Amino acid sequence: MTSDNQEHTAQSATYAPPERLVNPENGRQKPWVSSMAEYEALYNESIQQPDKFWTRTANELLTWDRPFTHVTHGSLKEGNMAWFPDGQLNVSYNCVDRWAIKDPNRVAFVYEADEPGQASSVTYGELLAKVCGVANVLHSFGLRKGDTVAIYMPMVPEAAVAMLACARLGLVHTVVFAGFSSASLAERVADARCRVVITADEGLRGSRPIRTKAIVDEALKSCPEVERVLVLRRTGSEQVEFNAPRDVWWHEAVAAQRPYCPPVPVNAEDPLFLLYTSGSTGKPKGVVHTSGGYLLGAALTLKYVFDIHDGDVFCCTADIGWITGHSYVVYGPLALGSTSVVFESVPTYPDASRYWKLVEDHKITQFYTAPTAIRALRRHGDDFVTKCDLSSLRVIGSVGEPINPDAWTWYNEVVGGGRCAVVDTYWQTETGSHVITPLPGATIAKPGSATFPFFGIELAILDPTTGVEIEGNDVSGVLAIKRSWPSMARTIAGDHKRFLETYLSPYPGYYFAGDGASRDADGYYWIRGRVDDVINVSGHRLSTAEVESALIGHHAVAESAVVAAPDELTGQSICAFVTLKDGIEANDKLKAELVKEVRTRIGPIATPKVLILVDELPKTRSGKIIRRILRKVVAGEADQLGDLSTLSDPSILDILVREVSVAI
Ligand code: WTA
Repeated sequence: MTSDNQEHTAQSATYAPPERLVNPENGRQKPWVSSMAEYEALYNESIQQPDKFWTRTANELLTWDRPFTHVTHGSLKEGNMAWFPDGQLNVSYNCVDRWAIKDPNRVAFVYEADEPGQASSVTYGELLAKVCGVANVLHSFGLRKGDTVAIYMPMVPEAAVAMLACARLGLVHTVVFAGFSSASLAERVADARCRVVITADEGLRGSRPIRTKAIVDEALKSCPEVERVLVLRRTGSEQVEFNAPRDVWWHEAVAAQRPYCPPVPVNAEDPLFLLYTSGSTGKPKGVVHTSGGYLLGAALTLKYVFDIHDGDVFCCTADIGWITGHSYVVYGPLALGSTSVVFESVPTYPDASRYWKLVEDHKITQFYTAPTAIRALRRHGDDFVTKCDLSSLRVIGSVGEPINPDAWTWYNEVVGGGRCAVVDTYWQTETGSHVITPLPGATIAKPGSATFPFFGIELAILDPTTGVEIEGNDVSGVLAIKRSWPSMARTIAGDHKRFLETYLSPYPGYYFAGDGASRDADGYYWIRGRVDDVINVSGHRLSTAEVESALIGHHAVAESAVVAAPDELTGQSICAFVTLKDGIEANDKLKAELVKEVRTRIGPIATPKVLILVDELPKTRSGKIIRRILRKVVAGEADQLGDLSTLSDPSILDILVREVSVAI
């Protein structure tokens, strides 16, 4: 099957927006943006008249308790950016009350539980009562505006309820992905100074229980400042320990509260949440997002990039533990009053049709997932897809890592049936919402390219060494953004210096994204992957330093160096090189133990795929490990090592190449 709109140029195939989207039948509305000329007009306005553009969109999409009179303040150079600084609003009011008042029976969340056939839904009216109940519980715990709450929960609607309950009181939430280990959770709870943790007895994924509460208990052994743990009963398992008065059952506490709680107006610049993400150094950083600018970014991008209209059912498969879950399972869809699908399970449970059955059952109109899932499902064959009725779909999206053209084409043809727009959205935890992306009714797509900047995003490609902007087309360098935008992160919790050093000082006057990129002859952007020590495994960011320090924590390890290896399924995988302390014997049992050490310290997502015990690591004469050499060797490019003059002992190269060829 090929798409109706596919055209082949000398360089690559291009795909025009599908006819059915641009000229809809049956009274369906036209896309919000239905031509490149319309995109350009809006984009130009956002750059040339930003005050006008942002005032209009912020007033159209959000309800303000106190209108802002001032759109933006500060500069990237100074790192003091602020948006709508004198405006006040409440995020939960915007996401819940507005729709609960107007249309209480509208479905806010469709909950697809782990076990098929157990779907249920939550209306906006019900959501308001649930959010208010939990907000009152948090208030009864003594929490007040500005306090921080950790959320460690499975993918159930109550996880979103917990986030919105925090937002209702002006509390700052920090959601920790429930696949992280107790040690990782403890580190985040302590860094964010949380006094309350919200969790569930257990989670379920592919019928396997995850002992969520037990992991919290373990983590809190090193967090004495936590006073209360609010526990949702998800599975009702008998094995869960309960330590009253610290632990409080969600259902009991909520039952004691009034189901209305007045929303607390906050300043647009008050923090809405912290989200920890990996950087170049070992310690994860708590990226801070604001209430006004962030919410506007999430709502505006979702509206335009997925072309959301009334009655749409939007499904983003990301976990709420990641930024994608924050912006596109919770805040974006609810700020638009849309219906959002909360998917608890995994794409292959009970079989590889799960996503597509989900689309059929709930008549999903926009579907958003990661390239790693697309590649994995493609391996199972087309029948799992084609046996389901996917005719409700209009826009299908991809996020988290570059999508290879083959996977893009399969997604377009087999899942989209050649009738949907495919949006390859590039963004980051720090950007809060999409920054480079096609618009479904306007952009002519090129598989593998995230295409053009979203409104308000002024991109630049810089020479990595000189920092000079490279003008024109057909150029490559590092990706940067030239001016601030509403949903960008404002700081790193407790460490503004690190924020400046990571994003703003490397190239003064620019936001440095950490990715390499090219702009082709037609002006399309192509993301080339990270240029720092961040590894992207299945769309999850991990820092090499974090994995290295987990390995060094093991008593047998002398040194370690971790690099990314190319991986067909997960994009990249973790390859660890380890040297042992004197007198310790290298064997398979020890290797397995070291892999386990990383899983326990960080979590299963950080599991090294390959771990190689070596006698020596490549180093400079001053003793610095040269990771570049290891990267080249694992990528099978040992013949392209470049300048080796700094390598102190060139004789180790042959041994390394041999060991890698045996291991990979
Ligand atoms: C990568 C996820 C290519 C990139 C939203 C970025 C992508 C990092 C794409 C951020 C894409 C994300 N094409 N690469 N469409 N989307 N990335 O913070 O390297 O988990 O810097 O945010 O993922 O990952 P994060």
